[in-house]
Amino acid sequence: MTESSSFQPVLDRIAEEIAAAPARGRPADYIPVLAEADPSRFGMAVAELDGTVYGVGDWRRPFSAQSITKVFTLALVLSMEGEALWRNVGREPSGNPFNSLVQLEYENGIPRNPFINAGALVVTDRLQSLTGDAAGCLLDFLRAESGNPELAFDETVAASEAGHGDRNAALAHFMASYGNISGPVPGLLAQYFRQCSVEASCADLASAAGFLARHGIRADGTTLLTRSQAKQINAVMLTCGTYDAAGDFAYRVGLPGKSGVGGGIIAVVPGRCTLCVWSPGLDARGNSVAGVDALDRFTTLTGLSVF
Ligand code: DON
Repeated sequence: MTESSSFQPVLDRIAEEIAAAPARGRPADYIPVLAEADPSRFGMAVAELDGTVYGVGDWRRPFSAQSITKVFTLALVLSMEGEALWRNVGREPSGNPFNSLVQLEYENGIPRNPFINAGALVVTDRLQSLTGDAAGCLLDFLRAESGNPELAFDETVAASEAGHGDRNAALAHFMASYGNISGPVPGLLAQYFRQCSVEASCADLASAAGFLARHGIRADGTTLLTRSQAKQINAVMLTCGTYDAAGDFAYRVGLPGKSGVGGGIIAVVPGRCTLCVWSPGLDARGNSVAGVDALDRFTTLTGLSVF
């Protein structure tokens, strides 16, 4: 890694501007351990296609990846079973909060997209059926793509979420009643909570997402996804990656992005680079306030967007 590149001045400027901006939001409190995060933290990293990473602020500090992991489980399942996945989950924005139950009944247990919790549970269930260890498979992939063998689950976060996981349990049981979950629900929830508890830094996650900017090519040069599949994931990130704020995120940032309630957001500039920003204060829709602001500034300053 290096700290001097064409991206360094823009990252430094963004960090200065964010430090001067008072609005930060509040850390997620429905998972009690996450509520302890310090909202003044801010880090941002940019990974180029060749794996070179630049960063500013807390860019090497691990945080709870949470829903950002849903991009990687989706990529793994698509790479293994292709289009068959779309029988179990849709790819339309939900327009509802990430943990909402309301659409599931009148849409027969098929979640709107793979990034709301219901859809992510379906994807993890598929990965569990395909591999026998969904969370382990995800962790191996993240370690390989980030080049960081130290990446790990935070079992305290997983336990905290499991202890307050009634909503996710309800979603999983409800979908199971429609035959849209193949394995036992308690095992699925354990895998899902571990998946969400991955601790990784902006540098790790920007690097790990690199295959989405390289049109499906992994860090070692092998193919994970076809070019078309990489496009499909980026498209679903753009339309669904920030839940009921996806329209505003596309308007402000103009990139495929995926947020997590740990305060991280990854974003992709196809053919150019991947980004990860972290600041734990969230808005009402579960997206990092300073994170969205920083990505907005990045695309405005550099002109790098998909539009
Ligand atoms: O399922 C949950 O509630 C969390 N483990 C993940 C939610 C999340 O990160 C949603 N993102 N904005």
